[in-house]
Amino acid sequence: MNPVVEQDRELDLIEKAKHVLPGGSFGNFASDIVIREGRGGRVWDESGREYVDFLLGSGPMLVGHAHPEVTAAAQARIAQGTTFFANNRYGIELAEAIIAAVPCAEQVRFVSTGSEADLYAMRAARAFTKRDKILKFEGGYHGMSDYSLMSLAPKRPGNFPQPIPDSAGIPKSLRDEVLVAPFNDLDMVNGLVREQRDELAGVIVEPMQRIIPPAPGFLEGLRKVTAESGILLIFDEVVTGFRLAYGGAQEYYGVVPDLCTLGKVIGGGFPLAAIAGRRDIMAHFDRRAVGDEGFLMQVGTLSGNPVAAAAGLATLGILKRPGAYDRLFATGRELMGTLTELLRHNGVTAQVTGEPPLFDAVFSGEPVRDYRGTLLGNTDMLRRFNALLRERGVLKGESKYYVSLAHTSDDIRHTREAWASALEELAGG
Ligand SMILES: Cc1ncc(COP(=O)(O)O)c(C=O)c1O
Repeated sequence: MNPVVEQDRELDLIEKAKHVLPGGSFGNFASDIVIREGRGGRVWDESGREYVDFLLGSGPMLVGHAHPEVTAAAQARIAQGTTFFANNRYGIELAEAIIAAVPCAEQVRFVSTGSEADLYAMRAARAFTKRDKILKFEGGYHGMSDYSLMSLAPKRPGNFPQPIPDSAGIPKSLRDEVLVAPFNDLDMVNGLVREQRDELAGVIVEPMQRIIPPAPGFLEGLRKVTAESGILLIFDEVVTGFRLAYGGAQEYYGVVPDLCTLGKVIGGGFPLAAIAGRRDIMAHFDRRAVGDEGFLMQVGTLSGNPVAAAAGLATLGILKRPGAYDRLFATGRELMGTLTELLRHNGVTAQVTGEPPLFDAVFSGEPVRDYRGTLLGNTDMLRRFNALLRERGVLKGESKYYVSLAHTSDDIRHTREAWASALEELAGG
């Protein structure tokens, strides 16, 4: 098609979106781009512009867009009906695959989004311990529930452990139910847990918080203090599950929580997420096992959806093949190393942080150990760098590169050239 016509069509869509969507977007990403299609490690916008894609749908497309095996698995299911509410074979088999892979998983409850999974995991901790409070970390992302939106991204951080709501519409009373600590600060966690052990139900943590890896001993310390105090440890593995290793961050870092949440990769690009964990905790989802008093009500129209479960199973099948994670990590390491080198070469003060399957640059020379460390980074510079990269055919989220098994040496080469040219402009201007 004529490129001018294609560009007009994208501009038309962007205009239309402004009328029908608040902020002109689905709320997730910039409103000035409309993605038409994706294949492997690349996507195309409605104007026909091609990008090396490090957004990866915000993470689910670990094996690449439109992977033929995932597509075939989903298409086969679609032809047989797309949702039943009742149990289906694919959801049962996916639960089995998760239990075989993820160290803490003895049973699984499916939901549709990571937000829901986190909301129910925290509720399960409250049902199990019969206590109300949850400790989370400043800057930790656990979806959009009232609890999770405490101190996710406070503009003006407050005093620990007071939570700061990040959204309008959160009941004031909830401020008494959430404690907030800095990620990687075991001393503060130990103090808070010991002080409030009779009221705390659980500690929820992203084992790698956004792109900040845990300091040596931090996750082990959380495990120890929670176990000693009868408080549940919840790993939010919506991002890290099946990404840092086949068994997720708990395999990668060698610390096993009581409960975890999963999403993104396990749905193969369809809406599916899960709570998984110890059988005695998961029993609270079963009225017959725990009685009316302990029962945690949980129902969802699309839970365990067969198309999503089949796509997830096909995705896990690909990831399970020998060498898959070696390849993913090799690609990620090469990208991280190249970016580090180019930043240095251009005299830009920055560091590349994360793990090979997901990372980004923080434009700061100070060590980044927690949310406040990321605030020291020059976010205007990051934004400008991201924009320059988009102009050069590299698409990414605000503060993350998601690496795909489908990224090729050609994608890496294109990215290196885009980085080099964007950094030259950034450093010069
Ligand atoms: C660590 C983490 N937890 C939970 C969620 C929420 O998942 P969803 O967007 O599927 O609700 C996300 C989403 O990005 C996430 O990164």
